Amino acid sequence: MCEGAKRGRLLVIDGLDGSGKATQARLLAETLTARGLPVRQISFPNYASDSSALVKMYLAGQFGDKPDDVNAYAASSFFAVDRYASYKTDWGAFYRSGGIVIADRYTTSNGAHQCSKLPPEAWDGYLDWLFTYEYDLLGLPAPDAVIYLRVDPAVSQRLMTGRYHGDESKKDIQERDLEYLERSRRAAEYCARKLGWLTVECSEDGAMRTVEDIGRQVLDLAQKVLQKPETQENMQ
Ligand SMILES: Nc1ncnc2c1ncn2[C@@H]1O[C@H](COP(=O)(O)OP(=O)(O)OP(=O)(O)O)[C@@H](O)[C@H]1O
Ligand SMILES: [Mg+2]
Repeated sequence: MCEGAKRGRLLVIDGLDGSGKATQARLLAETLTARGLPVRQISFPNYASDSSALVKMYLAGQFGDKPDDVNAYAASSFFAVDRYASYKTDWGAFYRSGGIVIADRYTTSNGAHQCSKLPPEAWDGYLDWLFTYEYDLLGLPAPDAVIYLRVDPAVSQRLMTGRYHGDESKKDIQERDLEYLERSRRAAEYCARKLGWLTVECSEDGAMRTVEDIGRQVLDLAQKVLQKPETQENMQ
């Protein structure tokens, strides 16, 4: 990071589609706020901002109706500039003044979703490029920890269908491509192992654990990270 020594904390909640990221990010932010800590919750893509225009075009299929129609590096750039805009205009100052930022998705989502477009032997090279690009060159902060919500893919598909009230046409081009989702799952597992993400098993015997049960584990992990001294190196 090149923007001064003072910084806050960045905790990322990541996981595949429909794994409960928004739910757990909100719960964690509410719990930490209730304890009097300075907390901001953010989420990506930042659909409320014009900066997500290219992401929206991509997810709506305007560059091709399959995720693979946009290569990993191009798609990653769309998501990365959206993050850059949000950091510059929204939460960067709060973070640098020592605030705790809870992110629903981050650079790490590019890792899982875009690796899946490449052969496994190209994953390490892609991930090196991605983290150099977003953290070193764009100057975005690297997370203090990534909490990975791991869900049986059949269970998360059911959750997503439920959210769209059974209307499959509301799913975006990534969400409706099951083969792509399966490749993304393998890539996410690889990233979690390689990058030391803190894994929370969210499903059990084909069903989700309760929001509160998962939330307790997420809070426990977050508290351990927040207790560590600030000088610790960030992770990827
Ligand atoms: N533990 C849980 N048990 C049952 N339902 C859940 C649980 N966690 C989340 N849900 C529900 O599952 C759906 C997906 O959750 P949520 O939006 O938090 O996931 P997400 O990971 O942010 O999804 P996306 O990747 O699509 O943004 C929502 O309808 C949510 O209310
Ligand atoms: Mg979400």
